[in-house]
Amino acid sequence: SILSSKLFNMSVLLAYLSLQIQFADQKQEFSKRPSKIGRRSLSRSISQSSTDSYSSAASYTDSSDDETSPRDKQQKNSKEIEIAEQEMPALMALRKRAQGEKPLAGAKVVGCTHITAQTAVLMETLSALGAQCRWAACNIYSTQNEVAAALAEGGFSVFAWKGESEDDFWWCIDRCVNVEGWQPNMILDDGGDLTHWIYKKYPNMFKKIKGIVEESVTGVHRLYQLSKAGKLCVPAMNVNDSVTKQKFDNLYCCRESILDGLKRTTDVMFGGKQVVVCGYGEVSRKGCCAALKAMGSIVYVTEIDPICALQACMDGFRLVKLNEVIRQVDIVITCTGNKNVVVRENLDRMKNGCIVCNMGHSNTEIDVASLRTPELTWERVRSQVDHVIWPDGKRIVLLAEGRLLNLSCSTVPTFVLSITATTQALALIELYNAPEGRYKQDVYLLPKKMDEYVASLHLPTFDAHLTELSDEQAKYLGLNKNGPFKPNYYR
Ligand SMILES: NC(=O)c1ccc[n+]([C@@H]2O[C@H](COP(=O)([O-])OP(=O)(O)OC[C@H]3O[C@@H](n4cnc5c(N)ncnc54)[C@H](O)[C@@H]3O)[C@@H](O)[C@H]2O)c1
Repeated sequence: SILSSKLFNMSVLLAYLSLQIQFADQKQEFSKRPSKIGRRSLSRSISQSSTDSYSSAASYTDSSDDETSPRDKQQKNSKEIEIAEQEMPALMALRKRAQGEKPLAGAKVVGCTHITAQTAVLMETLSALGAQCRWAACNIYSTQNEVAAALAEGGFSVFAWKGESEDDFWWCIDRCVNVEGWQPNMILDDGGDLTHWIYKKYPNMFKKIKGIVEESVTGVHRLYQLSKAGKLCVPAMNVNDSVTKQKFDNLYCCRESILDGLKRTTDVMFGGKQVVVCGYGEVSRKGCCAALKAMGSIVYVTEIDPICALQACMDGFRLVKLNEVIRQVDIVITCTGNKNVVVRENLDRMKNGCIVCNMGHSNTEIDVASLRTPELTWERVRSQVDHVIWPDGKRIVLLAEGRLLNLSCSTVPTFVLSITATTQALALIELYNAPEGRYKQDVYLLPKKMDEYVASLHLPTFDAHLTELSDEQAKYLGLNKNGPFKPNYYR
């Protein structure tokens, strides 16, 4: 069920993006890659570049805290990527299209994102579009080891494993960029750590970098800060604020994974439980709060912004200060993107058995460091589950050491990530191919038409039938019949 041939016509999009396909570069780059990349017939034999990768093959769900160094483990194939492909129709459509056009020929993309099956589908798509990729994980717990291993075997340079130390984390990022004979010309970041590392250690690299694509609210915030200080030296695309990220990833991803993350780690029952959710943005509002409410939990919300606070009230949640409910709640969830939202004073006042976790990007929301004091005992009861015990015997249940719960302890819906991944791929194409002068050293939002295109690529999955504007209606609304249908500021 093709909705509108014009809407789906990739060549229209490519013309719109002013892609200049670099066939010469493409030939050169592709001679170094697996020939059938992007298909499950992809050879996963160990290639030359896979020896330049560090990952391990332990199962993602394996809860044993295996002491073997990931560097010593045998790599093996992963079915996870194949499964993810089924739910990522737009990336597969881009790949099909790429049999004729290689809009990323010559692109050398260095990435720092969660290394999951969905990211693997994105990387294989970027590769099919002509790019070379080197990748590290943006979170020390979220890597699916067998996926990282399968990518390495398929010829990608991947530096990541589940359970990295802080030191390993930066070592992996460094291995992505500090390599002889290879310099990135595009950055795909989630959280801003990779961008930060290049700024700190290899600022000269920015001479060759054409642009940064950033996914998270945290990373975008850092980019705006750089821009404000006049220190941003390349154009950056803020994917976090595109409609296709905000309205889908932050919301549906969290709505469908918050309960699973809590259940897998604690077996908690939700009905009648008192939960306080800090922040009432996209992740919290329609994501966590809606899911918890549907399960019969009593949900309290904290907010600093009166508009979001009013929304919480009108959605039927009690708006409170954290201190007012901290003694009585069973679960505390942070989703603010801020720091020190839950501090030691709050943790001291929690009741016995209170579960504490974070759904925001960084581990800054809960002041976990304040719990590392001599009078408190830490007991690891399961993978990603710590009991922190006070001298009087009270214990709180800390999940994933305050790192984001769903990506550390659960899985996220592939279809939603397909939407974000397609947006990232298009943002890379746009920045890489943009003619001189279109983008300055600033932070940009993805053009609305591309957001709409990403959404349209996902509609056939639902056998959805989109209504077309009549000429009269288009004229009445002052719109082009093929979009964009909303102004750029629409969210
Ligand atoms: N877990 C996931 O799968 C996932 C998915 C998308 C985004 N995220 C992350 O979740 C975080 C939130 O994302 P979002 O899209 O909801 O952002 P958002 O900006 O829409 O919402 C955050 C809200 O927190 C509020 N806030 C800030 N400081 C606060 C404080 N001290 N106390 C109470 N409220 C406070 C803000 O006013 C805002 O309304 C970000 O770090 C983002 O990167 C996580």
